[in-house]
Amino acid sequence: MQHLTNKTVLITGASSGLGQALAYAAAGRGANLVLCARRQEKLQLVAAHARAISGRHAYAVRIDLTQPAQLNALMAFIKRQVGPIDVLINNAGIGYFERALDLPAAKLEALFQLDVISLIQLTQKIGLTMAGLRRGTIVNIASQAGKLVTPKASAYAAAKAAVIAYSNGLRMELRPLHIHVLTVNPGPIATDFATIADPSGQYARAVANIALDPHRLAERIVQAIEHQRRELNVPWPMTVAAQLRQLFPAIVDRIIMNPVFNRK
Ligand SMILES: NC(=O)c1ccc[n+]([C@@H]2O[C@H](COP(=O)([O-])OP(=O)(O)OC[C@H]3O[C@@H](n4cnc5c(N)ncnc54)[C@H](OP(=O)(O)O)[C@@H]3O)[C@@H](O)[C@H]2O)c1
Repeated sequence: MQHLTNKTVLITGASSGLGQALAYAAAGRGANLVLCARRQEKLQLVAAHARAISGRHAYAVRIDLTQPAQLNALMAFIKRQVGPIDVLINNAGIGYFERALDLPAAKLEALFQLDVISLIQLTQKIGLTMAGLRRGTIVNIASQAGKLVTPKASAYAAAKAAVIAYSNGLRMELRPLHIHVLTVNPGPIATDFATIADPSGQYARAVANIALDPHRLAERIVQAIEHQRRELNVPWPMTVAAQLRQLFPAIVDRIIMNPVFNRK
């Protein structure tokens, strides 16, 4: 069991949604926080609230994770001001729900740059320090989409499948160094994610009744970190569907195409 009290937790995408909820859940365990995102004002509010919960440090670091120079500046800040990171939570991510043949090149690049490449680059930078200390936890927020793709989510699902595969390889490499890797695959969450993924609002309305509460999910993620689980998959019916797809892909594809299940 690994306790977060007095540990230093870095959370990307902490200005809203699941990242914000994770900040409060980790603060509730007495963790020091490094919170990263582009919207400085929102980030500072989250950091102030986290400090009020924990009575410990909560740094708000304005950063566009897709800019390598800003990643280097973040590392310099951590070295100068914070010290070793005990838990890295790669949470920042975007999605675009558009037909595979229509997704504009700029959106495709932005999606893979943030959700995959920046995640790997930050993991390498923080992971090297963890490897030197022979301790640490890396949490990658992927998605059920990475296991159970649906129409209009092909590029997003491909990015999240890449995160799942990367995490599986990383876990094996880092285990001998006593660094634990947790992959989190949530279904729809009640956050602002859908306002970028589908600005029409159709997706948000369609999943409103089944969307996960970000605070409850954050609590489960913190528990999974504490118990050093390798994967957290929620909700369970999507997990079962993803497993069934491995066994009966043609049948599950037909079920997903049915308007009852196909909500994009
Ligand atoms: N919501 C869902 O239905 C759902 C389902 C499964 C998985 N997920 C995953 O859960 C994670 C969190 O998403 P969410 O639902 O909480 O959505 P969200 O509220 O939109 O949060 C996304 C976060 O990423 C940050 N971000 C975006 N671009 C960035 C950039 N270039 N540099 C730094 N930070 C950036 C945003 O902050 P700024 O805009 O301030 O930079 C924001 O804090 C994502 O990885 C997402 O793929 C979401």
